[in-house]
Amino acid sequence: MSGADALIEFLRGEETRGVKTVHLDEEAKVLLRELHRRAKNPAKAAAVPMREEPARAVLTEEEPKVEKPAVFVPVIEAPADGSAAQRIAALAKQAENWEPARKLGTLRGTMVFSTGNPEADLMLVGEAPGYQEEQQREPFVGAAGQKLNDILKAMGMARESVYISNIVKFRPATGGQTTNNRKPTLEEMASCISFVRAEVEIVKPRCIVALGATASEGLLGLTGSVGAMRGCWHEFSGIPVRVTYHPAYLLHNNSGAQDKRRVWEDMLEVMEKLGLPISEKQRAFFLPKA
Ligand code: URA
Repeated sequence: MSGADALIEFLRGEETRGVKTVHLDEEAKVLLRELHRRAKNPAKAAAVPMREEPARAVLTEEEPKVEKPAVFVPVIEAPADGSAAQRIAALAKQAENWEPARKLGTLRGTMVFSTGNPEADLMLVGEAPGYQEEQQREPFVGAAGQKLNDILKAMGMARESVYISNIVKFRPATGGQTTNNRKPTLEEMASCISFVRAEVEIVKPRCIVALGATASEGLLGLTGSVGAMRGCWHEFSGIPVRVTYHPAYLLHNNSGAQDKRRVWEDMLEVMEKLGLPISEKQRAFFLPKA
């Protein structure tokens, strides 16, 4: 790839991620000026080849050094025609052979898109399919999925009434993989995030729950612990987002009633946002007995 192509790819990637300002080094500026000059006078430019040095766009000292995935992802237009279910199905079809994800070479071949009601008020987003999800081609069907179903039941909601999806639509691959899973990388998340944006545009949920730190990073671009990210409303594509612990976290031996209560408090906020009725019994779930 030429320096100019690399620079354009980098800038498009930044635009896709919503970055409004970038600082370019001198070399990148020279390339951009040259591209501009060529665009104004294509006939003359064709006679002279472009310089092929690699371009680098650098962050200034003041900016936080957040590692950005170097992957260019075309924006996906949500299919315009049909019912929400038909539009989601059309989107899932596009994901089947999604080149930006495939060309990374780090994701497995089976595409797992979403499940549930494409017109739901509540959308839940996890990180990526695991072994069970890949087998059944449905998000959250393993042990973590059972826990998620329990949480929804406690909220008075059926799994079928909400929309459940993942940031990454393919199971991250590892060497000699059997049932073991790994969390997706930033590049892998960036390769699929346009689908999540299109899903939100179709489903139009009133509220989104980001399940765990990885989903929150992919969705909101935040890094850090779930503890630091939860407890307030964030936003994705104009929709309020609540961060909570991944249901798998609640399955760990060292996760106790306090963690369950924390998740439950997040869900009470979500229920309030959705205007769902909350009984006194529900409010007291997972509180220590008096
Ligand atoms: N964990 C996730 O984040 N997503 C799934 O679909 C399953 C487990």
